[in-house]
Amino acid sequence: MAETTKKLHIKTYGCQMNVYDSERMAEAMGAQGYELTDDVGQADMVLLNTCHIREKAAEKVYSDLGRLRPFKEAKPDLKIGVAGCVAQAEGEEILNRSDLVDLVVGSQSYHKLPELVARARNGARPVETEFPAEDKFDHLPARPRSSRPTAFLTVQEGCDKFCAFCVVPYTRGAEVSRPAGKILDEARALVEKGVKEVTLLGQNVNAYHGAGPSDQGGGDWGLARLARALAKVDGLERIRYTTSHPNDMEDDLIAAHGDEPKLMPYLHLPVQSGSDRILKAMNRKHTAESYIRLIERIRAARPDLVLSGDFIVGFPGETDQDFADTMALIREVNYGMAYSFKYSPRPGTPAVGREGAVPAEIADARLQQLQALLTEQQRACQNGMIGREVSVLFEKKGRLEGQWVGKSDYLQAVHVRGDALAPGVLARVRITGASTNSLAGELIG
Ligand code: 5AD
Ligand code: SF4
Repeated sequence: MAETTKKLHIKTYGCQMNVYDSERMAEAMGAQGYELTDDVGQADMVLLNTCHIREKAAEKVYSDLGRLRPFKEAKPDLKIGVAGCVAQAEGEEILNRSDLVDLVVGSQSYHKLPELVARARNGARPVETEFPAEDKFDHLPARPRSSRPTAFLTVQEGCDKFCAFCVVPYTRGAEVSRPAGKILDEARALVEKGVKEVTLLGQNVNAYHGAGPSDQGGGDWGLARLARALAKVDGLERIRYTTSHPNDMEDDLIAAHGDEPKLMPYLHLPVQSGSDRILKAMNRKHTAESYIRLIERIRAARPDLVLSGDFIVGFPGETDQDFADTMALIREVNYGMAYSFKYSPRPGTPAVGREGAVPAEIADARLQQLQALLTEQQRACQNGMIGREVSVLFEKKGRLEGQWVGKSDYLQAVHVRGDALAPGVLARVRITGASTNSLAGELIG
């Protein structure tokens, strides 16, 4: 008989792209006989798939590494790997900072993971942070049966925008789009395995420009063309994408929001600030006004669209007036959902060390004010759903007996009771109740 299977524990930090990468790493290691475990105590290998976007996220990795020490002492054979964006940004330095780490693998090298693990098992401490020319996904195993009806699908990686605060262009590299044919194949394979909704992922996903499939005339496909082709895949019911940049919101993508029913009416379109001075300093290359006009055009195409965004407060040089401009933009746009952060200086980015640092207590106060407004808007959006009919794709059991939880078209969690419900069921639901983070509803008919 084969030797007993080894156990792998993966902890994922940060964005959905890391969630997707962790799944692909689990699959690659699965092919080597590793089974996933939630229990670190059982693991033979622990992988931390890290995030470098803000200081807090990056430092968390080192405190979590410290927490792994007793496990390694109890089981000296336990191998610990650091993957993801901290691995990409810090490389070798991680081995110096923590003697617990056996291997470091950057975000573009996951196809090399089995080989790196083998080298670590032989006592080496390999570090792999190249940006190889080949597509890492070509060398990863096919996707196994999913137990969930939703899946992430990476279509684009990296970013060429160079916002002055952001590490992504350095940790994920230049924009690279996967060929459309490979994405369509992956989507068809996911559908065969029970998936009904895909979220197309990219650091700058609406800048997608991939080679069109040769059997469809080749050429250069943008995100709208890709979404329309995916909409033709039988059994795929819903398409989402994230994260987008305002300057890449092209006409055909806006039009697709109006006429492609499988493209869901939820859009994450970060603006970061409502002050033109700060937008310029951030190198965003758009104004508050151009963003507002863009939102108007998108809403003209799809009036019920729920909009989400990202905001940074306390960027160097941000005055009370700049912050007031951000609050005014939020009031004008009206978000259904949003994420907001205090500026965190990241090593190697252009904004580091700039004049006009905002004192922490001022940034804290601004963040609180901004979050209060965004929460108020989110509540209003949730309450506005009461009485409306939505479709819900059910994903899992709720906490109450007989209750199931799924997502509305607008990405809101909806709780419903129903005997015939199960993961993968797509049903019409009338919303009967709302709280800030979830909705309650009943099946129609
Ligand atoms: N400090 C604070 N927030 C940041 N983000 C990116 N870099 C930083 C930083 N240095 C935020 C932006 C981005 C989101 C993913 O994280 O709002 O859209
Ligand atoms: Fe970072 Fe997004 Fe700006 Fe790219 S567009 S640099 S990923 S914030």
